[in-house]
Amino acid sequence: MPPSQPSAPDRALAAVRLPRYTKAELEEILGGGEDPFGVAEFGLTWLPKEDHFGVKDGARLVAHAGLRRLPIAVGGVATEVIGVGGVAVAPDVRGRGLARTVVGAALDHARTMGPRHALLFCRPPLVGLYQRLGWRVIEGEVLVEQPGSRVVTMPLRTMVTPLHKDASWPSGPVRLRSLPM
Ligand SMILES: CC(C)(COP(=O)(O)OP(=O)(O)OC[C@H]1O[C@@H](n2cnc3c(N)ncnc32)[C@H](O)[C@@H]1OP(=O)(O)O)[C@@H](O)C(=O)NCCC(=O)NCCS
Repeated sequence: MPPSQPSAPDRALAAVRLPRYTKAELEEILGGGEDPFGVAEFGLTWLPKEDHFGVKDGARLVAHAGLRRLPIAVGGVATEVIGVGGVAVAPDVRGRGLARTVVGAALDHARTMGPRHALLFCRPPLVGLYQRLGWRVIEGEVLVEQPGSRVVTMPLRTMVTPLHKDASWPSGPVRLRSLPM
């Protein structure tokens, strides 16, 4: 008899690049709720991500992280960051390292894209989780664009992580030159 497969909770699941990530894939992970990321109260308009990474358990998609290159000014100097967003893990498989796995895979790809830092926005209760994954909070006001040429203060926490060994986040005010992702 062939050896039996370990049960799902014990099997290490690997991240893969996803060919697409639509509402259907999001709902496969988080269900069809109105506000899966808990950010609707802020009324912000977000950009979709361009590159998608996921974890599959058999045929089922159970985790996602997305990437998007974004223009930004830090201390008045124009540069680019890789925005990370749409991080999601299915409720029944949380707490098993799948966010670590899928964000890690996304950052491995981000390291090949050029910009020296990745940046994300998150609710305050998730700061500890991302710190554990090597991110740090940017203190001070972060400005982002919104439709109608509006520039608003980001109400969520802004966090960054270096993508290259010698990268250090520059000092000065941060202004995203796009919608947030
Ligand atoms: C946030 C979310 C993605 C986390 O997924 P998860 O698979 O449970 O996370 P992980 O198990 O990979 O946890 C990553 C690490 O953070 C740690 N961690 C989790 N919560 C933590 C907290 N509040 N403080 C500090 N560390 C925390 C874990 O112990 C783990 O560390 P380890 O790998 O060293 O053991 C998941 O809860 C989710 O999909 N939430 C709904 C959507 C959402 O809000 N997404 C975030 C958008 S920014």
